[in-house]
Amino acid sequence: MNTVNNENLFANLYPKQGGIPVEFDLPEPVNQTEYLIDGELRHWDGPMHEVTSPVCVETGAGCKRVVIGCHPQLTGKESLEALASASKAYDHGGGEWPTRSVQQRIEALADFTYRMSQKKSEIVRLLMWEIGKSYQDSEKEFDRTITYIEDTLEAMKDLDRVSSRFVIQGDIIGQIRRAPLGVVLSMGPFNYPLNETFTTLIPALLMGNAVIFKPPKFGVLLFRPLLEAFREAFPPGVVNTIYGSGAEIVSPLMASGQVDALAFIGTSRVADTIQQQHPKPHRLRSILGLDAKNPAILLPDADLDLAVRECLLGSLTFNGQRCTALKILFVHASICEAFLERFSEAVSRLKIGMPWEPGVTLTPLPEVGKPKYLEGLLQDALGQGARIVNPNGGATTETFFFPAVVYPVKASMRLYSEEQFGPIVPVVSFDDIEEPMRYIVESNYGQQVSLFGKDPDALAQLIDPLVNQVCRVNLNSQCQRSPDTFPFTGRKDSAEGTLSVSDTLRCFSIRTLVAARADPLNKAIITDITRKNKSNFLTTNFIL
Ligand code: G3H
Repeated sequence: MNTVNNENLFANLYPKQGGIPVEFDLPEPVNQTEYLIDGELRHWDGPMHEVTSPVCVETGAGCKRVVIGCHPQLTGKESLEALASASKAYDHGGGEWPTRSVQQRIEALADFTYRMSQKKSEIVRLLMWEIGKSYQDSEKEFDRTITYIEDTLEAMKDLDRVSSRFVIQGDIIGQIRRAPLGVVLSMGPFNYPLNETFTTLIPALLMGNAVIFKPPKFGVLLFRPLLEAFREAFPPGVVNTIYGSGAEIVSPLMASGQVDALAFIGTSRVADTIQQQHPKPHRLRSILGLDAKNPAILLPDADLDLAVRECLLGSLTFNGQRCTALKILFVHASICEAFLERFSEAVSRLKIGMPWEPGVTLTPLPEVGKPKYLEGLLQDALGQGARIVNPNGGATTETFFFPAVVYPVKASMRLYSEEQFGPIVPVVSFDDIEEPMRYIVESNYGQQVSLFGKDPDALAQLIDPLVNQVCRVNLNSQCQRSPDTFPFTGRKDSAEGTLSVSDTLRCFSIRTLVAARADPLNKAIITDITRKNKSNFLTTNFIL
């Protein structure tokens, strides 16, 4: 492992006790004892889970992760209470929420968004402390989420407008709309705990479903400021929150067979376990964002400055902890040395530090044991002939791991196929384009790829087969999910269902219609119902 200059590199990395700037500090630990079920904030006095930050402080007796609070460690009993509450609110589709008009549901979501925007500073600060995301990026995550909700409300209006008319085919008249699915279990990931959770939870609610929401393993307390807003904005039981170990609280939910849709962003291994617990898997709709190992391919004519810039963003934004991150770089042999040199220099210029420091890129990692896991990946590669190209690469202390650019990576190394989800950049040199193409075909993942080159003919030849292997081909640009109006999905082990502002509304709903033979009796009935606004479904009301 690279220990050269570690002392200098990490000198004053962590603050001393009392040395945290007051505007970023947490005034006091967030000891959450409440959980939301059936419109009540219930008090929990059972076992609690202690929450520590990836940020450490120098204590005199070594560096220690800062304890920032705790939250309930619920059991299967409370989890089933949450399920009963959601089922009651949905009431087989007859509940107040699923039968409300679209306009009324939009108003409730707008009210929630207003309440949420009032909590921005509290949520951003907790996001930063819980997962170590820079303050600037934590703010971006919050703002992006608000924009996502607002865009979703507009998309819902569009969807409703299109469905506000009758269709007449032959002698059948019908009105076709989208209706909710039922009870949704929503589980987001720790790297974008607010944004990615809400990109499924909000559309699920808007479509009229009732939700049980389990926050990710890190990024739990940041939802506490929203519990009141959930309670105030929605009818009892429409949003329920559960906390604790997945095995204990998720398993009974799935085993009940009463969860109609699973929104999960995490690993395919966990998704499989959860899905398999449902006694009737055909009744379960799954919307999944899973593993990925997006490659970049640098062709011989790639613009190196541009490629370095995009690969740096792609591989090391939020320390490489993005599902969309570039997790392996295939560089043509003719430009490999030059690329490695410039890329290593660029890595050395990245600022390391605490999440509140201006301009910081590299911050502590939230997962306990992650530096050790990353060291294991490095040892495996070094043992098989790879080297760490950049100064200080792989240097580690407590919760921090300095990025390692590893070259040459070969098929037998773990880094070649394992999703590192952290600050290691494996580089493979290739002579024949068939090598990276075969890698993509044989990979378990199929989310995105980035191509770097200038020749339109060469790029076009790659685009056509690659769009059938992955779900987004990025030209001279890093892999990414945004803009959120673009479809985000993957093949193989990378996803199930497509997310985007408009697609997600479809994911959490099903097409359903009212149809009738267009005879005088039925025409009179339909006219009476619509003119007198007797139904929220069978209606020609148009949202302006
Ligand atoms: O972890 C995956 C996130 O959705 C990343 O979003 O690629 O737009 O930064 P992004």
